[in-house]
Amino acid sequence: MLTDKLAIITGVSSGIGKALLLTLQKEGCIIHGIVKSEERKQSLAAELATLLSADDLSRITLHVCDLRKPAAIEDFAQTMHKMHLSPDILILNAGVGFYGPHEELSVKAITELTAVNFTAPLLLTNMFLRDLKANQGHLLFISSVTAAKNNNTHGCAYGATKAGISNFAKSLFEEVRKYDVRVTVLAPDMTKTDLYRNASFCASEDTDAALTPEEVANYALFALTARKGLNLTELTMQPQRHRLERIKKN
Ligand SMILES: NC(=O)c1ccc[n+]([C@@H]2O[C@H](COP(=O)([O-])OP(=O)(O)OC[C@H]3O[C@@H](n4cnc5c(N)ncnc54)[C@H](OP(=O)(O)O)[C@@H]3O)[C@@H](O)[C@H]2O)c1
Repeated sequence: MLTDKLAIITGVSSGIGKALLLTLQKEGCIIHGIVKSEERKQSLAAELATLLSADDLSRITLHVCDLRKPAAIEDFAQTMHKMHLSPDILILNAGVGFYGPHEELSVKAITELTAVNFTAPLLLTNMFLRDLKANQGHLLFISSVTAAKNNNTHGCAYGATKAGISNFAKSLFEEVRKYDVRVTVLAPDMTKTDLYRNASFCASEDTDAALTPEEVANYALFALTARKGLNLTELTMQPQRHRLERIKKN
């Protein structure tokens, strides 16, 4: 069903993004994945070379694009358009997490949160929406359960970026549904990834208390392969238990 569909995925170097890349690759998609730096591109390319055949690798292109920088996003879009590469699927997955009492967050952290989690998906959507309309494509936003909460203590700014993106995506669906463009918001809860590298907590080792990136990617696939005419607008995924682990600082 997704064979030869061109998918742009942001944040493919780790976690949910890497699982999305591998899942859609198996489905036969042609993938253009965004990574933040040349170093991340090299390490991911080396890892993929151990997992995939040369044939499979030839259908994956990694682009360096620092999503904190609007000019880099414009360059990426121009490169794709110059090469007449028009996405059928756009997955806005890249994100960062900074947590703590709000007054303790640095200016850099707050700026990065809003740039990567909120501004970059809006810009990419703006730059590729004509393609998605022409292709009757699908936009998929990786938001978060925090989007629907108003008690994100020590994660107010993170939760606000996710609430913004969920709200944007749902209004966008109303704007583009008549063009047969589908828009899905996926809202996972605690998932076992590196997102919490800047936090004093992380997902529990208990499999009942954390999702895996592969589970999130499979749910994304479920939405992307729904029959034409059916839009899965918002999907929430939660582990059975609510349990965090504290990271001990030395
Ligand atoms: N893990 C969870 O519990 C959870 C729950 C709900 C929602 N989410 C959402 O899921 C999405 C994926 O996160 P994850 O959990 O898979 O964490 P992750 O492993 O840290 O992945 C985040 C990805 O975003 C990329 N990224 C960050 N800043 C970037 C930038 N400036 N330019 C380009 N790429 C950038 C990262 O690249 P680098 O590694 O090179 O920085 C990485 O590939 C995020 O939007 C996150 O908010 C996660």
